[in-house]
Amino acid sequence: MITKATVDRIMEATDIAEVIGDFVQLKKRGANYIGLSPFSNERTPSFSVSPAKGIFKDFSSGKGGSAITFLMELEKFTYPEALKWLAKKYGIEVEETVDSAENLEEANHRESLMIVSGFAAKFFQDSMWETDEGQSIGLSYFKERGFSAETMRKFELGYSPDQWEAFTSQAIKEGYQAQYLEETGLSVKRDNGGMYDRYRGRVMFPIHSFTGRVIAFGGRTLKSDKSVPKYVNSPESEIYHKSSVLYGLYFAKKAIRDEDNCYLVEGYADVISVHQAGIENVVASSGTSLTVEQIRLIGRLTKNVTILYDGDAAGIKASLRGLDMILEEGLNVKVVLFPDGHDPDSYVRSVGTNAFKTYIDQNKKDFILYKTGILLKEAGTDPIRKAGVIREIVESIAKIPDSIKASVFVKECSHIMQIDERALLSELNKMRMAKAKKDSQQQYNHNQRASQQHPDMPPEDLFFDEPGAAPATPSIEKREEAYNQEREIIRLLLLYGNRMIDWDGIANTYIGPFMIAELSDVTFDSAVCKAFVEDYRREVENGVLPDEQHYIHHKEKGIVDLTVTMIATKYILSENWYDMHNISVPDEQVNMKATILGAIFHLKKHKVAQILENLRKELQNTPSEQDQEILLNQYMRMKKVEKHISDYLGSVILK
Ligand code: CTP
Ligand code: MN
Repeated sequence: MITKATVDRIMEATDIAEVIGDFVQLKKRGANYIGLSPFSNERTPSFSVSPAKGIFKDFSSGKGGSAITFLMELEKFTYPEALKWLAKKYGIEVEETVDSAENLEEANHRESLMIVSGFAAKFFQDSMWETDEGQSIGLSYFKERGFSAETMRKFELGYSPDQWEAFTSQAIKEGYQAQYLEETGLSVKRDNGGMYDRYRGRVMFPIHSFTGRVIAFGGRTLKSDKSVPKYVNSPESEIYHKSSVLYGLYFAKKAIRDEDNCYLVEGYADVISVHQAGIENVVASSGTSLTVEQIRLIGRLTKNVTILYDGDAAGIKASLRGLDMILEEGLNVKVVLFPDGHDPDSYVRSVGTNAFKTYIDQNKKDFILYKTGILLKEAGTDPIRKAGVIREIVESIAKIPDSIKASVFVKECSHIMQIDERALLSELNKMRMAKAKKDSQQQYNHNQRASQQHPDMPPEDLFFDEPGAAPATPSIEKREEAYNQEREIIRLLLLYGNRMIDWDGIANTYIGPFMIAELSDVTFDSAVCKAFVEDYRREVENGVLPDEQHYIHHKEKGIVDLTVTMIATKYILSENWYDMHNISVPDEQVNMKATILGAIFHLKKHKVAQILENLRKELQNTPSEQDQEILLNQYMRMKKVEKHISDYLGSVILK
């Protein structure tokens, strides 16, 4: 357990805008920041951060909360992981109350896998720096490749001893569980149950998560023997999903944002060499073809990608189609080819940083023009193949979301291909139409699904129509309305709970405890609203008036989400948002009495209707006349209550 004192220190140091700024490009808007949601693929910003309140709210996905919640959502951290990450960022020493062996057992699965990976990284580093074998083989290899000691330390490079069990036996000896060793792929199980090291006699490249924790490894052989695989990589695991990791991103993200450009290379060595040369905005796809997830990772930091390929053309053609994906994500793609036989690593080492940069500037080509050139050369003079090229190029252009940019490419491509611009344009329009049709169908399907049920909305059978109405088939709107009534109570508790009541008849009471007392006979249907109100009641009973910070940092994630949504609807929503959704914001504070009592009695009215409906059902199903009589009496009483509330709402409350 991390101590309370540590947690407090972390909370104090944390600047939510700074934390989120590590992942999302934020722009200042008044007291707040806005940016593109990292949780969805949007083009207009609906993600907002309030440093004053220490919260964020993402209106496209509905997520919201503190800096901790953010890290938990985005990085899939556990609560302690998020705290530790913040502690590291702000240089705060973490005090934990139980010893680390117990901790290891307690920590959840993912955390355990990361701890084991971190241990392995340390083990491989020690093997390289501290042992004779490591120094003479691993260290000298890296030195020969031109890596400085500083670079090696930064990337945590290491060496795995050329033995069957060096790592595994050390790990077991230090108390790491076999299960985690196997799941991370660091150790491999033998048929007889024993285990041996996956990496033997290789130089080790740890792969870091976006937040800098070691989650996997690539191990390069030092043998030139062709029968030995050049790289052995970690298998997929719960902490390592190849398709959503870019090698070097942790070290590159700041520079990518600063330079507003990302260099994409193929190998580990390329990343490290280029980075060491002072060009730090560089990441690698690690030999596999790019995935949409990887592109989105980059897209969160910059819209400009420059792909640095080595000179041999074999891989180039294969990746051409894959690159269309980058266009589709709205990124600008440039391509640079290095002279034959060179990859970015060898080239930067041979010519130096400045010449390397100059070369890139002089040789970078827009991806589409570059693709056009290659395909055209291939097609030669064959008219049929040339027609195929045209279609393929137009297909790429059609993927560009920005139509102005697309039309520039049409012009340039028509020039290169020496065909009429209008022919290209008409082809492009055909494709766009087809795409628009497809998109709108998808959007429609999506909306249909989305409108069916709100995630926290109580199940259907909890809500009923007004008494007297024909069969009770509650509409979605009805349930939504009831749900909103419950949430309205939460919103008012959060915003005004700490204020003194200022209306006639009641004095010296705070709004929060007053509301809680008034609602003591009401059962909330939404689980999270119920938990919130119960928490509030407990706090009040303990003599505390809980404030919004109490709920922003609540240990229940559902409560945090609800809190932030409720606060945000008032405080962080931009005016645009209100306009967009045609919501007018009446000044509820002018008549607090109407606001508070209105919310309470609307909810009560609804609850009474619900009780009435239940009684009606029970009456129908009760054969005993005596029981029927009792139920009927209850029914009449509730009818009176209902009338009472309606009258009250009608006369006193102006809603
Ligand atoms: N790769 C791999 N498995 C292989 C070969 C390559 O995983 N058998 C991945 C590695 O991530 C490697 C990248 O593809 O970094 C690029 O491959 P390559 O150019 O062969 O490796 P380099 O990193 O350039 O290695 P070196 O310069 O040491 O030859
Ligand atoms: Mn190389």
